[in-house]
Amino acid sequence: MINTPLQPSLLERPRRLRRTEGLRGFLQETHLAPQHLILPMFVLDGHSTLEPISAMPGVFRQSLDHALEQGAAALELGIPAVALFPVLANPLKTPTGSESWNERGLFANIIREFKRQLPNLMLVTDVALDPYSSDGHDGLVSSDGEILNDETLELLCKMALTQAAAGADIVAPSDMMDGRIGAIRSALDAAGFQRTAIMSYSSKYASSYYGPFRTALDSAPRAGDKKTYQMDYTGGYREALRESRLDLEQGADFLMVKPALAYLDVLRVIRDHFDLPLIAYNVSGEYAMVKAASSAGYIDERKVVLETLTGMRRAGADGILSYHALEAARWLREL
Ligand code: PBG
Repeated sequence: MINTPLQPSLLERPRRLRRTEGLRGFLQETHLAPQHLILPMFVLDGHSTLEPISAMPGVFRQSLDHALEQGAAALELGIPAVALFPVLANPLKTPTGSESWNERGLFANIIREFKRQLPNLMLVTDVALDPYSSDGHDGLVSSDGEILNDETLELLCKMALTQAAAGADIVAPSDMMDGRIGAIRSALDAAGFQRTAIMSYSSKYASSYYGPFRTALDSAPRAGDKKTYQMDYTGGYREALRESRLDLEQGADFLMVKPALAYLDVLRVIRDHFDLPLIAYNVSGEYAMVKAASSAGYIDERKVVLETLTGMRRAGADGILSYHALEAARWLREL
């Protein structure tokens, strides 16, 4: 018999609860499922068109026929919603973004067709001037380069009304003008669209992670940057809390933090302060990084994507807008 001195017994052994797959599954706290995902899509005019986007392998600017097929695939996989972004030909872009409230225009047609053919798929539609603006800004630009706030609100309201009338379930203002949620809520209510929800891009940072998206829409600002309206990432939490509070007070149904990956702490803070549903936007640059690293063989794409999206859920996101949505939903099905 070996005479070992009695070890003081360890009272807490967290590893005991990680011992088997059964135990780990039993104690799982954070869940990621297709029902939490929203697929963003870029839709252009025409038919049978799939245009690759250089920094976003696997994502296309697609014509309505392809987009509807993808929407149907999303629904089939359990993804409840798509976020639609129109891709306008440059000649259609004007300083006021006038094509954005054209009831016979590209975007209204896209929304109507989606609603008609896929009535159970929720439609989240983007409210901001940049896809329609010859200046590439989210608001009206004055002759001296200022992004005009109150003048923009009127245009955003017209845009939101056109989208609601075409069948949008959720309008999603991404422009960061002050007072936009209240203005859009009043306009919707006055026109009888009380049931149309508003997903506010409430904490949206001026971010270099949007690069691939701007390439996709050819919507980069022609002059200046977006720092006078989007938030500065060197700020603390007060500004994000304030923006969220204002949007809540003005009638937002959802709050958002965008981008997601470098802002998980902001997600957590907003989650802990507000009781509104919270959305994370896993943006184009985040997608591009994962695709680049996985095509170089540096990471296991599938595992990294599921870990990242789960991290966003753990940080407090109810829903996640992600270009990985379709593949993630397929991978989740295989688990
Ligand atoms: C603009 C808008 C942007 C994104 C969504 N809406 C870009 C911007 O603010 O310049 C970016 C989304 C992404 O990068 O995936 N209204």
